[in-house]
Amino acid sequence: MQDISVDDLTAEQAKQELERLAKEIAHHDYLYNTKDQPEISDGEYDALRRRNNAIEQRFPELIRPDSPSRKVGATVSEKFEKVRHRIPMLSLDNAFSDQDVYDFVDRIRRFLRLKDNDELDISAEPKIDGLSLSLRYENGKLVTAATRGDGTVGENVTANALTISDIPHVLKGNYPDLIEVRGECYMAHADFQALNERHEAEHKQVFANPRNAAAGSLRQLDASITARRKLKYFAYAWGEVSRMPADTQLGMMDVFRSYGFTVNPLTKLFHSAEGLLKHFHAIEEQRADLDYDIDGVVYKVNDLALQQRLGFISRSPRWAIAHKFPAERAMTILRAIDIQVGRTGALTPVARLEPITVGGVVITNATLHNEDYIKGIGNKGETIRDGKDIRVGDTVVIQRAGDVIPQIVDIVEERRPKTAEPFIFPHICPACGSHAVREEGEAVRRCTGGLICPAQAMERIRHFVSRNAFDIEGLGEKQVEFFFDAKDENLAIRSPVDIFTLEARQKGALSKLENIEGFGRTSVHKLYDAINARRQIPLSRFLFALGIRHVGEVNARRLARAYKNYKAFEEVALAARYPEENSGESGNDAWNELTNIEGIGFIVAEAVVDFYGEEHNRNILQALLAEVTPLDEVLPVTDGSPVQGKTIVFTGSLERMSRDEAKAMAERLGAKTAASVSKKTDLVVAGPGAGSKLTKAQELGVQIIDEDQWFKLIGEENA
Ligand code: IVH
Repeated sequence: MQDISVDDLTAEQAKQELERLAKEIAHHDYLYNTKDQPEISDGEYDALRRRNNAIEQRFPELIRPDSPSRKVGATVSEKFEKVRHRIPMLSLDNAFSDQDVYDFVDRIRRFLRLKDNDELDISAEPKIDGLSLSLRYENGKLVTAATRGDGTVGENVTANALTISDIPHVLKGNYPDLIEVRGECYMAHADFQALNERHEAEHKQVFANPRNAAAGSLRQLDASITARRKLKYFAYAWGEVSRMPADTQLGMMDVFRSYGFTVNPLTKLFHSAEGLLKHFHAIEEQRADLDYDIDGVVYKVNDLALQQRLGFISRSPRWAIAHKFPAERAMTILRAIDIQVGRTGALTPVARLEPITVGGVVITNATLHNEDYIKGIGNKGETIRDGKDIRVGDTVVIQRAGDVIPQIVDIVEERRPKTAEPFIFPHICPACGSHAVREEGEAVRRCTGGLICPAQAMERIRHFVSRNAFDIEGLGEKQVEFFFDAKDENLAIRSPVDIFTLEARQKGALSKLENIEGFGRTSVHKLYDAINARRQIPLSRFLFALGIRHVGEVNARRLARAYKNYKAFEEVALAARYPEENSGESGNDAWNELTNIEGIGFIVAEAVVDFYGEEHNRNILQALLAEVTPLDEVLPVTDGSPVQGKTIVFTGSLERMSRDEAKAMAERLGAKTAASVSKKTDLVVAGPGAGSKLTKAQELGVQIIDEDQWFKLIGEENA
């Protein structure tokens, strides 16, 4: 019945389906809200709710009193106080092959412009499969323990952390006034087994793996429960520190040991990719004998001064990488292929699988990427899986690597049922019935419904309120769906503007939010507060939230930094005209300015111009700007930087640093870097061999300096 499309259900089938969905959704709500142990992804959960709503829309007389559409739960955990990390807790980039490790080392050597015989020390240590925990010590005393959360805001679990024997309440030895020690909280295998045995005997929930058990145990309201769970901790990193007690990664590990922490004994220093790989394989061999779960090996540049120079790309350090162990595989049966519609109208096929446990996690879904992937054609038109297509009923090989969505990597042809038919990818959007088309050279089929497609509209709102965009607490995935589907116009949220008019519209409304089950007075006011708190928002978040194609977080930040002020950006976005294809012409001034921003190429600029070319988008923006004020972008590191706010172009070959390092350095000092010289350029740093950019700078009378003068200017003469 699950496989029958809503349009084809009989009334009797619909009734049964609604009953099944009510039970299943309630079960997943319980796992998510109470147990902290979801079994399915948010996307799958949404699909269940969407199906429920679609059936209810067709058969309103069958709506059950306990229908999930009548409840909206609180998704955000209200259990713990929030803690803002003064220094964000970042993630690591991944390496999956030997080549990735060689590339990592090469990239660093190039960035630092090391000569062939210059040594580069890199440490290697196991990647612990637990959850990271930041411990703040003031005058040697543990004052706050916080989980990672979203990297910026975590949960205060101090009382629980104090029960972990590896975590000192008071530091030993010679420590700085302030230090945040960071590391991994985990559960050892023996403790995990004992816990599950106990739970089984008591008919309580058993945990799927030690990581879930550790997370569930740390986030207990009653710290005495955490104490009984016997968690452990390895220290491996740090956040805010008042005085650095060492100048290398390994030095810091020694220091942590002297404070009373446990550091991982398999940590070692190497000088080459070969050495790192050898250690990787040695640790892989020992993996089964360790009494804790690990999922790879982390490599870190040892010298902290070099770490500082290398800095970060987006959310991961350039100086570290996690080399993951090969993914685990398993076989199961493909039960159905569903099509999901995303924010940009992309139709994504999702495999519904016979549930199977892979590496301790139950898998019920896998991504199928796109139409070609199902047919056995890869991204570049190449043959994959020897050209075998994927059919419903097939026995499939699935692979799961870390937290990434499982993939179908192969099928077992011999087990294909005789009746299995090739999958026919829909040419009609399942959400709105519009045509779904594939543009030439694109792998993705997209719904052409645009504004009338409810799936796209809802996904756009979800994106708008998401963590790195407007980040509105209380508007999680479920709530967005609730408001989107609301019939009452004074309750509905169908565009981002509606979020900000909700409170006013509710004043005269018949269906009051606070009378709806799952909301209540306090949570409604909390929601309004959360919305109102975002009426002023940094420009980069605002631009990201708009959901312009190709304007992800990084490009939004580039645009925000380049224009600082929303109006300045909008003016250019409205004025820019791109050159017609093959016309041989160039675009107008605004276009040239936009494409001159470092990192903003034609594709991004074109997407910006197209977005502002749509009257509908301009109308929404106008209405939105009546409710919301984007704040001027503040460039980082303001204090006394001589190049703050300046636009700099680096050209020619540099001797003491690579071009990438030069740019990163300028940006750290609050400058913008551009790809070519224009009237807006403030400074050109030219090395030997500089050509047309130098000439242009001379013509325009832009200040020109060499590399040594650059170091002098920024006060690092002896660098
Ligand atoms: S270093 C700036 N070292 O992996 C990066 N992380 O993907 C600091 N992890 O959130 C992290 N073992 O929870 C580092 N030996 C190790 C680790 C480790 C596990 C986790 C950590 C982090 C995630 C990053």
